Amino acid sequence: MPSPGHAIDVAGSGPRQFSFWTGPYSHAVNLAEVRDAYAAMADRYIELFGTSEQVHAEDLALIGRHLAIRPGRVLDLGCGPGHLTGYLRSLGVDATGIDMVPEFIAYAKTTHPGVPYRLGSMTDLDVADHSIAGILAWYSLIHLPPPDLDGVLAEFRRAIVPGGTLVVGFFDGDRVEAFDHKVVTAYRWPVHEFSERLARAGFTEVEHQRRPGNDTHRPLAAIAAVAAGV
Ligand SMILES: C[S@@+](CC[C@H](N)C(=O)[O-])C[C@H]1O[C@@H](n2cnc3c(N)ncnc32)[C@H](O)[C@@H]1O
Repeated sequence: MPSPGHAIDVAGSGPRQFSFWTGPYSHAVNLAEVRDAYAAMADRYIELFGTSEQVHAEDLALIGRHLAIRPGRVLDLGCGPGHLTGYLRSLGVDATGIDMVPEFIAYAKTTHPGVPYRLGSMTDLDVADHSIAGILAWYSLIHLPPPDLDGVLAEFRRAIVPGGTLVVGFFDGDRVEAFDHKVVTAYRWPVHEFSERLARAGFTEVEHQRRPGNDTHRPLAAIAAVAAGV
């Protein structure tokens, strides 16, 4: 079992495709746990959530409104089956999907030929400083233990250009707390607390939306935020 601070070969044995690190975080083991949990449920996840038709129209509109507005590369981090990367490409965005689950990346490449996807971790983006115009992290930060969120947002801030936009989707709640997500433990966040974390990392909220829970889904939230100048 790897210990915190050690690189983990998320591609498993065989040729090392990438490793993620990482530094002082406590979540190195958590990432492997999350990857393995999604890998085990990849087919079911794809069936339930794997097309942009299964995404709420308000969410698609928010994503397009904030990420299809300027030239430059956009990263869909934790892209899962890759449907939102495909959606962004359909809007003319130079989008790349990145996920740490090989099953998702293989599915995305087959389903969206011509769209770039790669195996990787959002904790170590392997891109030059301030080279990315926008980042989508759609329900991909939900499994991060709250103390680890700042480090990941700092990596986003390193990668994104001043004025670039970050869009995040997550589970809404009255307080930061863990809950039993079907795949693996996740955390809900009050919008204002998530927004404060973004501000601490150098992102200014420009819009948020919330959708109350109902019989089929938990309360949901999304924030669009712009990177401050360096
Ligand atoms: C709830 S799913 C969301 C997938 C997709 N964005 C969607 O909207 O359907 C969370 C995704 O985040 C990915 N993920 C979590 N942590 C990651 C990390 N550190 N690097 C890359 N992907 C990550 C998981 O593998 C999973 O595909």
